[in-house]
Parts: sequence; structure tokens; C-alpha cells
Amino acid sequence: MALKNINPTTTNSWKNLENHFEQIKEIHMKSLFQKDHNRKENFTLNFDDFTLDISKNRITEETLKYLIELANESELKDAIGKYFSGNKINETENRAVLHTALRNQNNNSVLVDGEDVMPEVKQTLQKIEKFTDRVVSGAFKGYTGKTFTDVVNIGIGGSDLGPRMVVESLQFYKNHLNTHFVSNIDGDHVSEVIKSLNPETTLFVIVSKTFTTQETLTNAETIKKWFLQSATENDIQYNFVAVSTNLEKVLDFGIAKENIFTMWDWVGGRYSLWSAVGLSISLALGYKNFDALLKGAFEMDEHFKGTDFDKNLPVVLALLSIWYNNFFHTDSEVVIPYTQYLEKLAPFLQQLSMESNGKSVDRNGNKINYQTGNIIWGNSGTNVQHAFMQLVHQGTKLIPIDFIGFEESLYGNKDHHEKLMANFYAQAEALYAGKTEEEVHLDMKVQGNIDKINQLLPFKVFEGNRPSNTILIEKLTPKSLGSLIAMYEHKTFVQGVIWNIYSFDQFGVELGKELANKFLVKNS
Ligand code: F6P
Repeated sequence: MALKNINPTTTNSWKNLENHFEQIKEIHMKSLFQKDHNRKENFTLNFDDFTLDISKNRITEETLKYLIELANESELKDAIGKYFSGNKINETENRAVLHTALRNQNNNSVLVDGEDVMPEVKQTLQKIEKFTDRVVSGAFKGYTGKTFTDVVNIGIGGSDLGPRMVVESLQFYKNHLNTHFVSNIDGDHVSEVIKSLNPETTLFVIVSKTFTTQETLTNAETIKKWFLQSATENDIQYNFVAVSTNLEKVLDFGIAKENIFTMWDWVGGRYSLWSAVGLSISLALGYKNFDALLKGAFEMDEHFKGTDFDKNLPVVLALLSIWYNNFFHTDSEVVIPYTQYLEKLAPFLQQLSMESNGKSVDRNGNKINYQTGNIIWGNSGTNVQHAFMQLVHQGTKLIPIDFIGFEESLYGNKDHHEKLMANFYAQAEALYAGKTEEEVHLDMKVQGNIDKINQLLPFKVFEGNRPSNTILIEKLTPKSLGSLIAMYEHKTFVQGVIWNIYSFDQFGVELGKELANKFLVKNS
């Protein structure tokens, strides 16, 4: 049975939220903190070594109560059950949605059309482990018998963004293999990547669920041509492997059957890094770290499935996002990790959230009359403070933020880390509290700038009342990253359920592909 069809704007809780919004919209968060001295503690949620502080949001207990009622009226609990148990909730593609099965650490079975998918999942994981060990140890060699020094992941969208983000985020844990990513159909980029590579010692991992994606196939063919300048067709089996559901096409490419890693139609591209699509992750970090990533995600899955909504991180993040999107009418959300390692998190989340929830037709097939998917953007702190934060602090738009910080740095440089985290806390504080005219006045007086007060005062005032979540994690590890990614996956799911849309198809990317083919024919 598929998900329920409920227009969220017709629910009682939506009406309550509309009325409540009218009462709360002008209230400054500073007064909420003044009224409740334990606001920070009262609005903090915990999961494992994650602390989510939502106190700097324009909410009260009542807001959360109505938002949770909205989740209940949307039958979220029932939807979560269906999501995890293999129901075909991706109705427009007639598919189950089971990326959670890929990291399932229980011994329970997960059924799709009455068949347990777990044995195949485990087999594939074993294959990934074995292959990784052989490549990393040097037992699996290139066509001239040399061990591999480089790995090139050829894929795009979900077959690129997830592996690329995880490998870059966890580079501290990397082994000796240099990992490269080719995604764009821009031939200059492929040329830049291969120009410094030795075909004898490079392993190419072609990742394409469909094995029909123009970018990936064009890049793979170009690389194959380059490879064949020094090798033979028969050598392809040593230096190329593939991850795909399309066995026939992969075999046609020349890849050996044993070097094909399967995936399944119940894994969406943007949710696929936990499958063999993550082979490059396993190769770059070693299987043990890949496994830890899966375990971290599984723990978040368990939290999401089993925790009351008011203490449930993905649920609360999704509800807050809906609160701003649908009641404050904000358009976008910023994600700012205070670690350079997570620089690629925002592009990853862009696909996850925007390809999933960028929909304007509901689950009845009707045009929607309310807002759905947000625009997601971001980059790493403190770089953003010297780039776009001016607009977030003093611009005309209200832009909710997720700040992500880590208590420990990986190399343990105390001085840097203290400064980094001071900025992390300072940004959230500045955004919520702002700076009043009186405060600016006093500051300028103290600094001896009395003569400029009349001229400059309005420009130096910060209204504040700008919302943010702070997500504090003990340390960036494969496990904590796994949990973090799964948290955002489930947030996306919850939003889609409440907005009454199908989050797991992506028809919106098709028209551009079709037209590109037409233009190609016209111009050739
Ligand atoms: O952009 C559309 C899309 O279908 C994504 O959802 C997917 O991640 C990407 O293309 C790549 O698809 P494939 O893995 O089939 O090459």
C-alpha cells in the first residue's frame, strides 16, 4: 500500500499553524530567551554524539506542538513504516525505496515483491570488501601487472556527488590510492584528469545505474580510447570495473562479468552511495571505513524509526524547514559546515533535496497551491563569512541555516580549532541576537566615533531574529558522517511526505536531456 494522499493545507494543524504564525511572526527570539532561561536546554535534541540545538529558531513549544500534529495528520508514522519495509512508495516508477536496506545491520529480512533483498545486499557488500582488499593490497593488478596507484570514478549525479563528497570529507582516513572524479561531459575536464595518469596503474570505476547516461558513457568512451592507445581491448578487463543494473551494456563495453557490481532499481541515484556506487569510497578509505559509514547511517535509521517525533532529529529538522518555507515563505536554506572537509556537502544535499522535493504536482497528480522544495546552498565556514554572510546578516531575505561543527579537530591543532569554533558559535549568536541601535551607539561612543554616529548608525544595526540550527558532533569520522548523511536523507523524506509529493522520481531532468539530443542531431 502506498503513501496516503493528504493535502497538508487542508489539515487542522495547518490552520492552527497559520493562526499561530500571525501571533508569533513579529516576536524577537531575544524575548523568547529572556522568558525562558532554559530555552537552550529545552530546545536541544540528542542522538549518539550529535547535539542539535534548535533554540535559535522562531518557535515556541506551541509551534512544535502544531508541527508535530501536522506530521501526525500527514500519517508520517505510517509512511516511515512503509519506507523501511519495501512498500512501493515510489509509485510513479512503481518501485520500493530501500537505500536503508543497504546499511541494515539487523538480521531481519527486507521484502520486495515477497523476496528478501538482504542476501543479495550482503553478497554485494562482500564482493566490495574482497575487491577493495585486493586492490588496496596490490593483489589485483592492472594490465601490465603493476599495482594500482589511482582510481577514477566516472559517473554523474548520484553516481558522483555522494562518493565524491564522502571521499573528500573523509580524506583524513584515506589510503595510498589517489582518487579522481570525472562527471561533467566537458571534454577539457576529462583531458585534465587523464593527462597526469598512467593507464597501467589506474583503475577506472564506471558508475551508472542505467548505463545510458550521456555524460558517463561519453566520458567512459573517451577514457577507453585513451587507454587503448597503449593497451588492447582484452586489457579492459584488468583496468575497468562497473557499477550498474544494466549488465548487457556493461558487458558490451568490454568489462568482465566478475568486475560488475550490481545495484537495484529500489535504490535511487541520490541515495545510492551506500550501495556499490560507493565502491570508490571503499577503495579510497578501505572497506572497514566504508562499513563504519554504513553503521553510522544505520544508527540514524534506527533513531528515525524509533524516536518520538519531538526528539527525532530528521523529523524536527524537516518540520522546522516546513515552518519557514510554508509560513514565513522563505525560499532557501543554507548549510554551513565548520570544517573544510565538508566543502562538498552542499552540492550533495542540493541533489538529495532538490531532485527529491522539487515537485509541483501532488500525489493525486494535481497542481500544488503551496510551496514545496527549498533551494539549498552553502559552503564551508569560515570562508562563507567573507563571502555571502553579509546578505544573510543584513539582507532583505530570511534564510534559515544549519551550522555543523565538530568538537574535535582531526589533527588536533588547538589554536585553529578554538578560533574555528568561536566563529561557529558567533555566527549563530549574531544572527539571532543582532545588534540594536543603542548597542551600536554605545560601541561607537566607546570607540571615539561620536561624530560619525548620525551618518553610520543605521548601517551598523543588525535586526537579528534570523534562525539557525546548530548541529554539534564530537568528531568527523566515517560513522558520524554516515549518520549525518542519513539524517538529511530522512529529513528530505519527511518533507516529501508532508508536502504530499513523490520524492523518489526525477522526471524534471528528462526534458533537458531530450532537447540536448535534438540539438545534437540538428547541429551534426
Ligand atoms: O540527473 C538524473 C539522474 O537520473 C540522477 O537521478 C542520477 O543520479 C543521475 O542521473 C545518474 O544516473 P545513472 O547512474 O543512471 O548514470
